[in-house]
Amino acid sequence: CGIVGVLGSHEVSPILVEALKRLEYRGYDSAGIATVNAGKLDRRRAVGKLVNLSDELVHNPLPGKSGIGHTRWATHGAPSVTNAHPHQAGRVAVVHNGIIENFKDLRATLAGHGITFATQTDTETVALLCEFHMRDGTGPVEAARKTVAQLDGAFALAFLFDGEEDLMVAARKGSPLAIGHGDDEMYVGSDAIALASLTDQVTYLEEGDFAVLTRQSLEIRDSKGHLANRELRQITLENTRVDKDGHKHFMAKEIAEQPVAVDKALRAFLDDQDVITLPEGLDFSKIERLSLVACGTAYYACMVAKYWFETIARLPVEVDVASEFRYREPPVSPGTLALFVSQSGETADTLAALRYMQGKADVIAGLVNVPESSIARESDVVLPIHAGPEISVASTKAFTCQLTVLLLLALKAAQTRGLPLPAGMPDDLRALPGLIHQSLASEVQIASAARDLATARDIIFLGRGQLYPLALEGALKLKELSYIHAEGYASGELKHGPIALIDDTVPVIVMAPKDALFEKTISNMQEVMARGGRVVLVTDPDGAREASEGTAEVITLPRAPVTLAPILYAIPAQQIAYFTAIAKGTDVDQPRNLAKSVTVE
Ligand code: G6P
Repeated sequence: CGIVGVLGSHEVSPILVEALKRLEYRGYDSAGIATVNAGKLDRRRAVGKLVNLSDELVHNPLPGKSGIGHTRWATHGAPSVTNAHPHQAGRVAVVHNGIIENFKDLRATLAGHGITFATQTDTETVALLCEFHMRDGTGPVEAARKTVAQLDGAFALAFLFDGEEDLMVAARKGSPLAIGHGDDEMYVGSDAIALASLTDQVTYLEEGDFAVLTRQSLEIRDSKGHLANRELRQITLENTRVDKDGHKHFMAKEIAEQPVAVDKALRAFLDDQDVITLPEGLDFSKIERLSLVACGTAYYACMVAKYWFETIARLPVEVDVASEFRYREPPVSPGTLALFVSQSGETADTLAALRYMQGKADVIAGLVNVPESSIARESDVVLPIHAGPEISVASTKAFTCQLTVLLLLALKAAQTRGLPLPAGMPDDLRALPGLIHQSLASEVQIASAARDLATARDIIFLGRGQLYPLALEGALKLKELSYIHAEGYASGELKHGPIALIDDTVPVIVMAPKDALFEKTISNMQEVMARGGRVVLVTDPDGAREASEGTAEVITLPRAPVTLAPILYAIPAQQIAYFTAIAKGTDVDQPRNLAKSVTVE
């Protein structure tokens, strides 16, 4: 969910909606705003995309110069107007990101005082509790402080009060929150991107912080109630620009940006003399094994990295889905580098796994796209991927930048351990932006193949070795965007079950560069074709020459160094999903039920 708050000098509704637009990547099940106008608290909410709230505001304007807003990814309660934020109880309105874990107990206490509930949500409980504390004449700030002190869980909150046009309260525990400083104005936002059109002066709240804002002042207290001095930072505009730049979708723009983004990621760690420099605190001479943890697309980046670290640097690697990691209470041996990979740096599952490793692993590193994020702040070492803001829910350029930095890490680890690098490395890495650029040209052919794929009910992706995670990523992207059921398999595993699914209605996409495993993968492809399966082969010119016969379609990528193949094959994986979604007419940038940044476990 995304939060915004403005104590402004102009009508605040359009400003809140504009800021929420920048936060829509955090969820888009419903949206709402509340303002105080002539001392009176009022709100408007709507189900679905933000445009529905804009429509509502045209018919039912909401005046006022102080306000809070919210865009929701449903956790408790279905997406409905009643469950949409802001939640209001008497004189208090609240917007909330996260989960209040003890809300049932709090509800029971409130019910004991005869208080009734309009919704099933945990957030309404926060508003009711604050209103309850104000009953005996307690002021709004003190009531909010008491309320926050009673809450368990992970949350970010902003409060607005009836009769208080120059007051807002914000609290952070587990979910990020930034305060923006304007000219006689003050703002609150889930991140700096939300505030980008308002200010570039930002203070990040820390864990447990409680902030009281007026137009002219900001007072922050830490979890112990002591006045806290938090750094005022200037945010660079480059990191907050969010427009489509002439593209039809953010996803198309972000796919196209990859040559530049990957080049930037490379240059951040590799200098002109081919020297790979890592941040201080990350020394592979002391590392004996790695534990890689992430979710979604970032998890597949980790799976690729396992191949690289094990084959190139001879370091054993464990890869885990973050939401499963800590529950099996993995024992941690000395010499472990725990590496957490996350585009947003806010994914709650990944953050929880990181906290499990604190005090257990030798080094905790966060490989993130947002250097101010929670994962970055709680890591010993931060490895920024320099992809720039990624807005489309489906991750594209963050994935290729994650892979680029992970490969550099594996190469550095090999060097430190005195092992030879694969031939041509790291110099060959410089060819990567150009190779990605060439790969993008397959777009025309993929767009035409996608019209056929869009009619399928099931699609299978196959890959072997370092391309196996790309098969998984291709399938994930496709199901996210087109809602077609898709599965990725290790091509050798096909014969152990999934081959039963094959007939002429199931397209099979085979990712097979002409590498040492090519012949084996092609044998698996033959097994598919022998059973009537329609094969789309993604390969390079040598592979195409050898294995095109009998396939329905061949997508030919440029010839590239073997080690770089997973990065290159990400491009067709993305384009297949993108163009299939276009052919099906689904919402490319904001697929149903998803959110880009999932800040609940
Ligand atoms: C969500 C997104 C995925 C993303 C995953 C991990 O589920 O829909 O696209 O890969 O979170 O996000 P992170 O920000 O941690 O990389």
